[in-house]
Amino acid sequence: MVSVGQYRVLVQVRGSIAFEESGSGLLTVFVHGYPLDHRLWLDQLEALSDIRHCVAPDLPGFGSSRPLEAFTMETVADSIAAFVGNEQADIIALSMGGYVALALWERHPEVVRSLALLDTKASADTPEARAGRSAQAAQVAEQGTGSLVAGMIRALLAPGAGRDPKRRLTEMIEATTPDAVIAALDAMANRPNRTKVLSTIDVPATVLVGALDALTPPTVAVEMAARIPDATVSVIPGAGHLTPIEAPDHVSALLRHFLAR
Ligand code: MLT
Repeated sequence: MVSVGQYRVLVQVRGSIAFEESGSGLLTVFVHGYPLDHRLWLDQLEALSDIRHCVAPDLPGFGSSRPLEAFTMETVADSIAAFVGNEQADIIALSMGGYVALALWERHPEVVRSLALLDTKASADTPEARAGRSAQAAQVAEQGTGSLVAGMIRALLAPGAGRDPKRRLTEMIEATTPDAVIAALDAMANRPNRTKVLSTIDVPATVLVGALDALTPPTVAVEMAARIPDATVSVIPGAGHLTPIEAPDHVSALLRHFLAR
């Protein structure tokens, strides 16, 4: 992959994947969650461009990337591996991005130099969570993605979240198509439990979580980190599930420290 100096380059497309990049040096790939796009990572692209070649793709079907015929954690992991190509990358992944990152580690460990898992978990959905996803898919099919905004603000952001994370979350949700939402809900509902994969991670790893993350709380993060042989864990005060936009400076500082190890 070509590095681009210190400056952020606006959306480009390689194959079916759209991405933004910044900086130069070792490749670092940022994997967003649901129902978001690469803009989740804009602060980190800027903050880490002096130490890394930072690349934030839109996952297939999200943002400006073309959809896959079948969207599963495995097919998305394969498309990230193809995107990285013959290089190795530090993988920084949030929530659904973390589900993809664990599938990537399982299927293509050779492309992973290190792993930062934010606000995510390794376990599969419970039956209740699956039922919730079916209901959400039906709602989106009927009323569009805009109908998710109010509930997502409540579920994903800390109660005291400011205007900026709310605006950014709203913009990302409204830009996501119903097809992408429905495909991702189905893929997350059917993802396997990858708890056993954690003990096989033999690259440096870190787990970050918002102290007020209601979806994947700190207890889950601490348990996950304890299963990874060489992992640190950090809890970010005041933030909910979307730490990169709720506590951007804190997340960037933790990632900088991790990447510089
Ligand atoms: C995400 O933030 O990617 C999703 O909320 C994860 C999930 O619903 O399991």
